Amino acid sequence: MCGIVGIVGNQPVSERLVDALKRLEYRGYDSAGVATIHDGVLERRRAEGKLVNLETRLRGEPLAGLTGIAHTRWATHGAPTENNAHPHFTDGVAVVHNGIIENFSELKDQLAAAGASFQTQTDTEVVAQLLAKLIRDGMSQREAMQAMLRRVTGAYALAVIFQDAPGTIMAARSGPPLAVGFGKGEMFLGSDAIALSPFTNEITYLIDGDWAVLTANSIEILDHDGKPVSRPRQVSVAAAYMVDKGNHRHFMEKEIYEQPEVISHALAHYVDFIENRVNPIAAAIDFAKVPSLAISACGTAYLAGLVGKYWFERYARLPVEIDVASEFRYRDIPLSPQSAALFISQSGETADTLASLRYCKENGLKIGAVVNVKESTIARESDAIFPILAGPEIGVASTKAFTCQLSVLAALAIGAGRARGTVSEAEEKQLVRHLAEMPRIMGKVLNSIQPAIENLSRELSKCKDVLYLGRGTSYPLAMEGALKLKEISYIHAEGYAAGELKHGPIALIDENMPVIVIAPHDRFFEKTVSNMQEVAARGGRIIFITDEKGAAASKLETMSTIILPNVDEIIAPMIFSLPIQLLAYHTAVFMGTDVDQPRNLAKSVTVE
Ligand code: AGP
Repeated sequence: MCGIVGIVGNQPVSERLVDALKRLEYRGYDSAGVATIHDGVLERRRAEGKLVNLETRLRGEPLAGLTGIAHTRWATHGAPTENNAHPHFTDGVAVVHNGIIENFSELKDQLAAAGASFQTQTDTEVVAQLLAKLIRDGMSQREAMQAMLRRVTGAYALAVIFQDAPGTIMAARSGPPLAVGFGKGEMFLGSDAIALSPFTNEITYLIDGDWAVLTANSIEILDHDGKPVSRPRQVSVAAAYMVDKGNHRHFMEKEIYEQPEVISHALAHYVDFIENRVNPIAAAIDFAKVPSLAISACGTAYLAGLVGKYWFERYARLPVEIDVASEFRYRDIPLSPQSAALFISQSGETADTLASLRYCKENGLKIGAVVNVKESTIARESDAIFPILAGPEIGVASTKAFTCQLSVLAALAIGAGRARGTVSEAEEKQLVRHLAEMPRIMGKVLNSIQPAIENLSRELSKCKDVLYLGRGTSYPLAMEGALKLKEISYIHAEGYAAGELKHGPIALIDENMPVIVIAPHDRFFEKTVSNMQEVAARGGRIIFITDEKGAAASKLETMSTIILPNVDEIIAPMIFSLPIQLLAYHTAVFMGTDVDQPRNLAKSVTVE
């Protein structure tokens, strides 16, 4: 994840900015830079690689100035070179950015047609160029900032300084977090409380759509329409933690809301957003040649693998043998040494999964690890590592790791399809475009469904049993929803293939057991609606999680309907994960359980 810091005040800033960046190193990065204004001149220093390279650069060419912004970059558009490192400059405007400007190509074409000449391959430079043009066209910095925010789409956190406004920093948030910090005679900006903790513990998190104007003695927060708004000021304890909860009550809630940001970084590792192509996959596993694929994992990671099975079989026409790791190696599966095996694990330390990995290795298979910890045992014992780049996941209930696992598996399945000739170049571009839209759509969903989910959770918290149903890739999601609910609220829940209802579980249906039906308007929709009719006919209460098309098509009476945007099947599992995660979270909050550390559970089960 990229990191942003800014200071405007009455003392030199460049060294303190770099120190603050060091507290964001945990987010991962591949280059860094700082820009300041001194004597009316905007200057910057940037360097590839670690912060020590930037410090060396600054020792040789110090930067003066009392206003500045700085950035650690996780490359999304354009290679991790110095030229692509932030801050990006144009005509006296410097910008640092975290996230993805989704419509950057269209804006770039418009600006180039109006005479702009671009120096980098990044989406961020479009923001600097657009601001510079709007100011050249006669707007003030504030007018230009507001006009720019009306033109860009995507998930982004931005910080901007203007050569002609030395005592000002402007910032905006739509997705990735951004906080402002209050000092005496100086004000601060940072990606999170950790970045700000060297300067202040009095902070305010901007919310999506907010933008802010910082001067040495003031912070003004405005909404999308430019109206001043006030946001809660809090005292951060980030100094005590290397990872803080931000403005959330639990790590799990923070990690649910971090998903747009971390997914955009995970995807950037696997797809080229400019060419809409999947990047070449680690040579250790040649999907063009393997006759089949084994997948093994535990818990939520296993359910991500189950979704992956549908994708590898559908897009790459690759037969997949999958099982929970605790069963996998005892089945004496006839494994071909020409095959490959993927092991999915957030911690990379789960004993059952590791044992399955070693079993496959003994059988001569090529081993791939889809992990969140690149230095973990499972990663170290694999031939190919596929990092999910979700950042530290503290809540025991896995949320952002799950959707990052899904995103990586989707990219791998599409890449495998290209390698095997079962996905055309045009299909690849289309699928990758859908993946690229996902962070923005997730941000929109997270900002819209909370009130309905909270009301529903209040009802669910009174229940003893809950049934989740789904078809296709919504079937593993039904199981994941049940797992989330039971592991943090302790309410018994089961996830079932919707088509299996009439083969037994329908005996359970009555008005006391809500049935949560996960059904985007896909190929299975009509069949799932008929399952819902079976439930309704027996007095069952239905909670319907669908999309706009599904809501319009179904006339069924429900206890509640959660409506999500219409999305392509390849991203539906990630988008539909959000309501099931939030439903479990808010139900547990109503139940008063220990959401981040549920009873009997550990974050990583390192025993078999
Ligand atoms: C997920 O919410 C659970 N905490 C648990 O099922 C977890 O997914 C499982 O223990 C696997 O952990 P891993 O991903 O670290 O291997």
